[in-house]
Amino acid sequence: MKSPHRYHITTFGCQMNKADSERMAGILENMGFEYSDDPNDANLVLYNTCTIRDNAEQKVYSYLGRQAKRKHQQPDLTLVVAGCVAQQEGETLLRRVPELDLVMGPQHANRLRDLLEQVFDGNQVVATEPIQIVEDITKPRRDSGITAWVNVIYGCNERCTYCVVPNVRGTEQSRTPEAIRAEMEELGRQGYQEITLLGQNIDAYGRDLPGVTESGRHQHTLTDLLYYVHDVPGIKRIRFATSHPRYFTERLIRACNELPKVCEHFHIPFQSGDNDTLKAMARGYTQQKYRRIIDKIREYMPDASISADAIVGFPGETEAQFENTLKLVEDIGFDQLNTAAYSPRPGTPAAQWDEQLTEEVKSDRLQRLNRLVAVKAAERSQRYLGRIEEVLVEDQNPKDTTQVMGRTSGNRLTFFTGEFQELKGQLVKVKITQTRAFSLTGEAM
Ligand code: SAH
Ligand code: SF4
Ligand code: F3S
Repeated sequence: MKSPHRYHITTFGCQMNKADSERMAGILENMGFEYSDDPNDANLVLYNTCTIRDNAEQKVYSYLGRQAKRKHQQPDLTLVVAGCVAQQEGETLLRRVPELDLVMGPQHANRLRDLLEQVFDGNQVVATEPIQIVEDITKPRRDSGITAWVNVIYGCNERCTYCVVPNVRGTEQSRTPEAIRAEMEELGRQGYQEITLLGQNIDAYGRDLPGVTESGRHQHTLTDLLYYVHDVPGIKRIRFATSHPRYFTERLIRACNELPKVCEHFHIPFQSGDNDTLKAMARGYTQQKYRRIIDKIREYMPDASISADAIVGFPGETEAQFENTLKLVEDIGFDQLNTAAYSPRPGTPAAQWDEQLTEEVKSDRLQRLNRLVAVKAAERSQRYLGRIEEVLVEDQNPKDTTQVMGRTSGNRLTFFTGEFQELKGQLVKVKITQTRAFSLTGEAM
């Protein structure tokens, strides 16, 4: 029989939001709700929202409009907006969509039960005040049984002039190494193989925790954390994201090189290859410093894969400045690059500046950059041809069910012929027979 309490969550945005959604789903299941894939079949619908660019925000309103309408036919529908749009808009969202029951910022994700109890008492609730994030005592409902996210630091104290994240995610709050390790041990017991440690600026991990070593160095750094969690039983692979060039250290590279479970992949957004643009973005490094970081990584780990994020069309960016970004991409040769056209965001300094570029200029630059990225990624992929790579099998290939798919240590998506039920969660040695820009095909050895 269908449960009378069915919930649906749609998640927009980054891995932090996905991790928050899994925790909120865990709380709802603990409260007796059952998951429904179809929002129209659920009596609690939660949108976990993203506002990093304007198109991300607009998507939320169109989804929300449909559910608000449905609520007129079905008054017992509970409508929740969580995440970054909720934090940014707060009360304004209630005025725009009065059908909403609950508007809750990302820091309140673990409080979902409390907040819903207030809703079920008959209140319309807005929870956007800054709080100390409490550890979640229920278990997340994770999407995968093989790979899992573990938050290590919430929030961001940077002030990149284009970015809403510090406004919507609040100030940095690190979890203790003990709490992180305990979560990983539990995941190891449940059979998870791969963990991705998460933070918007993960290099900032620990700077808000007490403790300084004799040499004056902060005791809790990402590097220390990697050593501390490395031997968690059952866990075969550890990843982390996102790194900030301003704080990236050689000590971290040495740890990654030394610790066999840490994957050979660095995600270090550079945003622009032009020094004046970087300065206007308040990123705190030059393109030369960024290149030195990559050189250092390649000195210790010549084969490590490198990915990044970049923005084109930042206010005032000239053609020559944009070409500096192309040049950086040409020289470094990223394995993958997430690119975006600059989008002015409410409450950020750059949105107020003159010299905003037209959509035409931005989309032209975006296309040119994307073309180069694909060429370079295809070149990078070729180094795998004929090699034997370890692939962690995560799923069936949706386009060809005779194949399974997974990732190499360097995070390349890889397909090979095999039976999913048999290989699920296994690390398989695969000989690479075909390469494409962003994926590989091979044969199990
Ligand atoms: N904390 C990470 C990434 C945060 S957001 C970092 O510092 O790199 C993810 C990516 O979205 C950013 O790296 C950036 O490339 C992009 N982004 C952020 N704000 C943007 C904006 N206003 N317009 C376009 N892209 C943006
Ligand atoms: Fe945004 Fe900069 Fe913080 Fe990244 S480091 S989340 S880009 S403010
Ligand atoms: Fe989006 Fe919030 Fe992540 S704005 S990118 S969901 S931190």
